[in-house]
Amino acid sequence: MGLKEKATTNLQVPIDQDVTVGKRTFKAGTVLNTGLDVPGGSLFPLGLITHLDKGQVRVGITCALCHATVSEETGRILEGAINTDINLGPLIAMASNSAALFRQTDVNPTKIPPGEHTFINNKGETAKLPNQKIMEDEVDAAILSWPPGNFVSNGDLKNNSAQIPSSYTHETFPYAWSGVASIGWFHGLTTLNNAVFGLNADPTTTADASESVLGIDKEVYLGTMLQNASSREYRLPEGAKPSEFFDRVDPTPGEPGINSVIKMPEYPKGTLFMQNGLMANTPGLPVAAQLNGMSAFQNTLAPPPHEAADIDTLQRGATIFQKANCAECHSGRYFTNHKVIPVKEVATQPKRAPASRKFAEEFAPPDTYPPNVPVPLPPNPPVLPVPTDITPQEDIKLAYALSDPHGGYKVQNLIGLYLSAPYLHDGGVAASAESIKQDESGRFMIAKSDELGMAGTLMRGIAPDSEASLRVLVDRNLRAAVVAANQANPDLQRSNIDGSGHEYW
Ligand code: HEC
Ligand code: HEC
Repeated sequence: MGLKEKATTNLQVPIDQDVTVGKRTFKAGTVLNTGLDVPGGSLFPLGLITHLDKGQVRVGITCALCHATVSEETGRILEGAINTDINLGPLIAMASNSAALFRQTDVNPTKIPPGEHTFINNKGETAKLPNQKIMEDEVDAAILSWPPGNFVSNGDLKNNSAQIPSSYTHETFPYAWSGVASIGWFHGLTTLNNAVFGLNADPTTTADASESVLGIDKEVYLGTMLQNASSREYRLPEGAKPSEFFDRVDPTPGEPGINSVIKMPEYPKGTLFMQNGLMANTPGLPVAAQLNGMSAFQNTLAPPPHEAADIDTLQRGATIFQKANCAECHSGRYFTNHKVIPVKEVATQPKRAPASRKFAEEFAPPDTYPPNVPVPLPPNPPVLPVPTDITPQEDIKLAYALSDPHGGYKVQNLIGLYLSAPYLHDGGVAASAESIKQDESGRFMIAKSDELGMAGTLMRGIAPDSEASLRVLVDRNLRAAVVAANQANPDLQRSNIDGSGHEYW
C-alpha cells in the first residue's frame, strides 16, 4: 500500500520486532531488502498468489517469484528474466519450520543431538527425533548464508547454492546448471519442470528414497520435517510412526508425497526422464499436459530488445569473441554447443556439479505414458520407452557425475546477458558500475574495491552492472579481486560461492 501503485524491484519491509533467526538478530526497524518485485499498479508482489481452499485463504508462490522480474524502466513484468535480487535466505529462514528443508542444506538430522519428541523408527523401536530448536537454528543459519538471487534446489545434504538462471529456454538444452535434464519432451525441459514440482517443491516425495540417497531412515526423514509442521494438521503427534501418521493426513492419499503426482512405470526407481520416478500431474488433465504446456510457454520467452552499442563496436566484439575461441563452446544462434564441460576443465566453483549422482546410481531405463492417457491412470495404461539417444551418452554421464566423480557444468547460453548479472552458476562474478574505471591509458582499474563480487554488490543491496560484471568475467586481474572479495566472506564460503574459474581471458 505504501508504494501507492508505483513499481519496485525490491520491496523493502521494516522488521516489526527484534527477532533472532539462525543465531542472527534482526533489530526492530531494520529495513529488510526482500527483493520481491511489485509491478506498477499492483497490490501484490510478483509470483505470490492467493486462493481459497476448504474455506481457508492460502498464499503460495509461483515460478514468477524467481523467474520473472519488473523492469526498472517501465515498471512492467519481464517474464523469464531472473529476479536477481530475490532474497530467499531470510524469507525462508523466518518461516517457523524451515527445518523441513534440511536436505537442501548441509545439516544432517542424524548428526543433531536428540530432543524430547519421541517417534517410532523403521525398526519399530521408540526413539527420539533430533532436537527441534537446534535443528531449526542450524537449518536457518545455513539458509541465511544464501545470497540474494541464489537458492539450493538439490536435496543432497550440501549447501551448494546456485544462481537462478533465466528462462529463455528455446534451444538451450540441456537444462539445470549441471545439464542433468536432457532427454524426453522438449529436450529435457519437461523433465526440469517436473523436478520443480514433483521433486524439489515437496521433500515428502523423496521419503522412500531417503535411505538409499541420503542414508537417513525414512521415519527420521519424515519425522524431522513434521515434528514442528507449521500447520497443526500435519504436526507429528508424540510417539507416532511418521510414515503411518503421514498416510493419515496426506491430502493426496494413495500416491507418494503431498503434491499431486503419478507413479511412473519404474517407481520407486527413478529414471533420466523422471528423477524420482514421479510425475507431477493434476487429476482430470491428461499425462504431462501441464508440464508440457509450461515447456511450450517458456520456449516463447525472450528478452526485450536491448539498446545496443553502435555497429562498429558490435563488430569488433564479434571478432574478438571468435578470436578468443569463445565460440568453441558458445556457438550457434543461442551461443551454446549444448555440451557439459568437466569441472576440472571449466574450473568454476565445484560444489554444485555432482549433486545428482546419488539419484543416478539407482536409475532404471526410462519409460513414459503417452500424453493422451487420462489421469488418474486407467488400469494397465500404455507405456512407451523414452529415447535416450538425443543426447550423447558422455554428456549424460558427466552431468550426473558418473564418468567423472566431480561432474561438470553445461555451456550456458548467452541470451539476455544485459538482464542477468551476476554471472556463472554461483553468481559470484559481479561488479557495480562504479567499481571499475578506465585510467589515462584506457586500462580498467579498480575504483571501489568494496563493490566487487557478490560480497560487494547484492549482499550490500547494490545492483551489479552487466557491463562491469562481464568485464570482470574476462579480465584476469579484475577477476582475482572479485574472487578474493567473495572468499573473504564467511556466508559465501558456507554457501559455496566464489566466482572462480572459466578462465578464458
Ligand atoms: C525459489 C526460486 C525458484 C522458483 C520459485 C522456481 N525456480 Fe526454476 N530455478 C531456480 C534455480 C535456483 C535454478 C537453478 C537450479 C540448479 O541447476 O542448481 C532453476 C532452474 C530452472 C530451469 C533450468 C533453466 C536452464 O536454463 O537450465 C527451469 C526451466 C526452471 N527453473 C523452471 C521453473 C519453473 C517452471 C518453475 C515453477 C514451477 C520454477 N522454475 C520455480 C529457482 C527457482
Ligand atoms: C570450454 C568451453 C567454454 C569456453 C571456451 C568459453 N566458455 Fe563461457 N561458459 C562455459 C561454461 C561451461 C559456462 C558455465 C560455467 C558455470 O556457470 O560454472 C560458461 C559461462 C559463461 C558466461 C556466464 C553466463 C551466465 O549466464 O552466467 C559468460 C558470460 C560466458 N561464458 C562468456 C564466455 C566468453 C566471453 C568466452 C570467451 C572469452 C567464453 N565464455 C569461453 C564454457 C565455455
